[in-house]
Amino acid sequence: MNGFVYSVPTTVYFGSDEFRHLGEEVAGLGRTVLLCYGGGSIKRTGLYDRVMGQLAEQGLQVVELSGIEPNPRIGSVREGVRLCKEHDVDVVLAVGGGSTIDCAKFVCAGARSDRDPWDWFADKTIPITDALPLVTVLTLAATGSEMDDTGVISNPELQEKQGRGARVLLPKASFLDPENSYSVPPSQTAAGSADIIAHTLEVYLTTEDDLFFLDTFMEGLLRTVVRFAPVAMRDPTNYEARANLMWASSWAINGFADGGKRHGWSAHPMEHELSAFYDITHGLGLAILLPRWMRHCLDKDPATAGKLAQLAEQVFGVTDPALTEREKAEAGIDALAAFFTDELGLASTLGEIGIGDEHFERMAKKACDGKGGTIHGFVDLEPADVVAIFEACQ
Ligand code: NZQ
Ligand code: ZN
Repeated sequence: MNGFVYSVPTTVYFGSDEFRHLGEEVAGLGRTVLLCYGGGSIKRTGLYDRVMGQLAEQGLQVVELSGIEPNPRIGSVREGVRLCKEHDVDVVLAVGGGSTIDCAKFVCAGARSDRDPWDWFADKTIPITDALPLVTVLTLAATGSEMDDTGVISNPELQEKQGRGARVLLPKASFLDPENSYSVPPSQTAAGSADIIAHTLEVYLTTEDDLFFLDTFMEGLLRTVVRFAPVAMRDPTNYEARANLMWASSWAINGFADGGKRHGWSAHPMEHELSAFYDITHGLGLAILLPRWMRHCLDKDPATAGKLAQLAEQVFGVTDPALTEREKAEAGIDALAAFFTDELGLASTLGEIGIGDEHFERMAKKACDGKGGTIHGFVDLEPADVVAIFEACQ
């Protein structure tokens, strides 16, 4: 257990009653607002009108950046930066899922810089030291971008998808009204839930010493998603389910669970290559990868069985005393895979989503190169390991 510093200065307005504070919060940060949103779901649900109503009440000037893509592209970031500079924008308001919020983060940074925003992804040593203030209205429980300092941006010309974080990118305030996620379709509820599980497992599955408290916290997060994701899929306007998923999304990745670990994330670098090459939904790619990655870890390093068995016991109720530790670990991996396919209806193979083996070698090399040649995580992964995991996903 290493020491750590923990501070997330994002003000969270949680629940339907708190949404009415949006206008005053934005007005406290400036008079000209760049409103960022995606492909139009916020117009169909009426959220756009509710947001504009509050901004109008405060007499704010609004400029719009619409059409931000799932797996947001650098072109959208550049367009947002251009709008900020042209209209002298003071504050950025992102209304949407992780893609809209991620794009907005780099719009905020780009607006306060003369660089092309891709520079920060091409060379991650270039510091990001300044950014416009960002406020978010979350519509999809998944990425945790509403309460973290990271954004993930795609560059289709280079077939790259890269993440980058900086403290100045942390939202100043985030509005988490679970009712704003009632309209999320089942496929995105499922993918978002898989993403929350993945964020938790990336930290939970480690061979480092853990604080019992943090392990228990993460097991609670995982049990929350396992319990409420199927409810939200069956009953999309179930407030309790949507609220639990939304708050879990923020806490899975806001740094609290890390507890000073020197872990490296493993499934995410692999998934980002799948999204970069095939533009697939992030959480879907993770759901396919996670069980195969965990089984690869178990086979490569039997010492991982203890933590995987703990996961099986605490989250999936695999408590049969007749089972060996390894058998428990395997039963837990099987339970997770079955949850993704049987409860969430997610595809279980890359073939089902149209991905063949043509780029496995290249994607594996890029995934490892992005981590300095080796992905240091639950077990260390070399390119050959990543290829083997992709092959197991076919
Ligand atoms: O674009 P619109 O029309 O809004 O539709 C979106 C989009 O089609 C729709 N949607 C969102 N809220 C909705 C809704 N539809 C109906 N009702 C609502 N209330 O859902 C679709 C997917 O949205 P998107 O924002 O792409 O999903 P998500 O939140 O899963 O974000 C995924 C992106 O975040 C990145 C991923 O790589 C991916 O690019 N990540 C960001 C992270 C971070 N910032 O820390 C960490 C994650 O690991 C992840 O990598
Ligand atoms: Zn993720």
